[in-house]
Amino acid sequence: MSALYQLKDIGRRYGTRPVLDIDSLQLQAGRLYTLTGANGSGKTTLLQILAFLQPPNSGNLIFRGLPVTWSRGVLRQLRREVTLLHQSPYLFATSVYANVTFGLRSRGIRGEKLRRAAMAALETCGLSGFEGRSARELSGGEAQRVAMARALALQPAVLLLDEPLANVDSETSSLLLQVIRSLPKAGTSVIMTTHDPRHQSDLNSITIHLENGCVVSNATSSHSGIL
Ligand SMILES: Nc1ncnc2c1ncn2[C@@H]1O[C@H](COP(=O)(O)OP(=O)(O)O)[C@@H](O)[C@H]1O
Ligand SMILES: [Mg+2]
Repeated sequence: MSALYQLKDIGRRYGTRPVLDIDSLQLQAGRLYTLTGANGSGKTTLLQILAFLQPPNSGNLIFRGLPVTWSRGVLRQLRREVTLLHQSPYLFATSVYANVTFGLRSRGIRGEKLRRAAMAALETCGLSGFEGRSARELSGGEAQRVAMARALALQPAVLLLDEPLANVDSETSSLLLQVIRSLPKAGTSVIMTTHDPRHQSDLNSITIHLENGCVVSNATSSHSGIL
């Protein structure tokens, strides 16, 4: 079976400055990866490429065995498979329920199916009873859980998480770690950036470490690029 993602000679620069330079990297389906590296090492840039939100300047990205062509029709399909939870997620100034159902509605899902998906995602994130609350009046930890519920409600094949635990209290962090850990078993592949080395062991994840835009070997991976 082909890998979930294959990256070959992926380069990304801003202006003339290179920020990503990945010779070879394979990510397998059904796994949980943590993406580590200093500020500015290229983690967010890599997630945006994996989310099909921005193309690399050079190289090939292959998703489930098919080269990504970055054409509009193909991207529309691919973006349904992959959800990126941004580091500072934006919640609309409406109810929690409206936020969590937004993506599903825009995909044409209505009625009982919509309600069930939303309620299940809210429950998973410890937010049962929050449906009618105003999303803008939540604590930071609650808001991050709503953002996670909104992502989970879409039931993506791949969930990309950009520092989801950076600004939350320890209670929310434990809850989200538990949710994230359970995802591969439920069929969702996860790639999560983090600054905290404890998360790698908490999640029993495979670590990809970036230095100046390059993948470097570490304790849990060989230098083969196949993780
Ligand atoms: N839109 C942008 N325009 C110009 N430079 C950018 C942009 N986005 C990121 N960069 C630069 O690219 C480098 C990698 O950034 P980023 O991927 O956000 O790293 P990380 O998430 O590891 O902190 C940084 O030096 C950053 O300043
Ligand atoms: Mg970042």
